Amino acid sequence: MATVPNLSLNNGITIPQLGFGVFQVPPDETQRVVEDALAAGYRHIDTAAGYSNEAGVGAALAASGIPREEIFITTKLRNGEQGSAAAAFETSRRALGLDVVDLYLIHWPVPSQGLFVDAWKAMEKIHVDGAVRAIGVSNFLEDHLKTLLAGTKIIPAVNQIELHPTFQQSGLAAASRAHGIAVEAYSPLGQGQDLAAGAISELAERHNATPAQIVLAWHLGLDNIVIPKSADSTRMRENLAAAALTLSPEELDAVSGLESGARIGADPAEAAFSQL
Ligand SMILES: NC(=O)c1ccc[n+]([C@@H]2O[C@H](COP(=O)([O-])OP(=O)(O)OC[C@H]3O[C@@H](n4cnc5c(N)ncnc54)[C@H](OP(=O)(O)O)[C@@H]3O)[C@@H](O)[C@H]2O)c1
Repeated sequence: MATVPNLSLNNGITIPQLGFGVFQVPPDETQRVVEDALAAGYRHIDTAAGYSNEAGVGAALAASGIPREEIFITTKLRNGEQGSAAAAFETSRRALGLDVVDLYLIHWPVPSQGLFVDAWKAMEKIHVDGAVRAIGVSNFLEDHLKTLLAGTKIIPAVNQIELHPTFQQSGLAAASRAHGIAVEAYSPLGQGQDLAAGAISELAERHNATPAQIVLAWHLGLDNIVIPKSADSTRMRENLAAAALTLSPEELDAVSGLESGARIGADPAEAAFSQL
């Protein structure tokens, strides 16, 4: 089993750099999928209240018998609950069956709502009270980070953003890091769409690896935290094994050359999903 490196966050806690995401995993399949992921060796699971599958994640954790401190759990605050973050957190914590959550994120800034600073202040209190080990943000653009940092005390531990070879947001990633905020890449495989690129196939052949392993090794080589999703236990293992693969600086550059500015998900400047 590949050894996944731990990264230190800005408050000193560590996070396994390669984790497992459960977006779009149906609630009634989540326990099975997360049990498979834990059996494959993942020790970092990324869910959200908006995915409606926190209970399945919790059931898998409980059934696994793995000591709590060996697994890192992230969940996220729904957009519609930014005005009641403390209550929303309690609901998530109960669904997960946990006393302490490792990382709690604001899922989207929803600037049109004007509530993310208030939500963050409530999350600062949850953190100070000890119910969450680190707090962070997701989908925050530079102006959202600026507003947040100007009005609050704790610097986010991570910014979880869409990031894959054809959409790297390198300016936002650098700005996040400049504040000491770790970059967590979501949709790291471009939801599978980035795997067919010529540069990736060439590297896969050279390393006797799969295209997904090349893309994940690229993320790891750039210090991104990465959370690929797969419902298939063979692909789960394939993705985790990327932790054993190192790309040279020239190979990292070859993958970085695939940037095309093609966003897959929503634009955080506009997104205001009510279901998330
Ligand atoms: N914060 C946010 O707003 C946000 C938004 C999106 C995602 N996320 C997080 O990021 C996680 C991952 O993102 P994502 O699910 O959007 O996309 P992704 O991980 O880039 O891609 C998942 C897709 O790739 C396929 N796949 C996985 N491993 C593969 C492999 N080795 N070879 C070929 N295909 C493979 C999966 O199919 P199979 O399942 O059939 O293997 C699935 O269709 C999510 O689960 C969630 O935790 C966060």
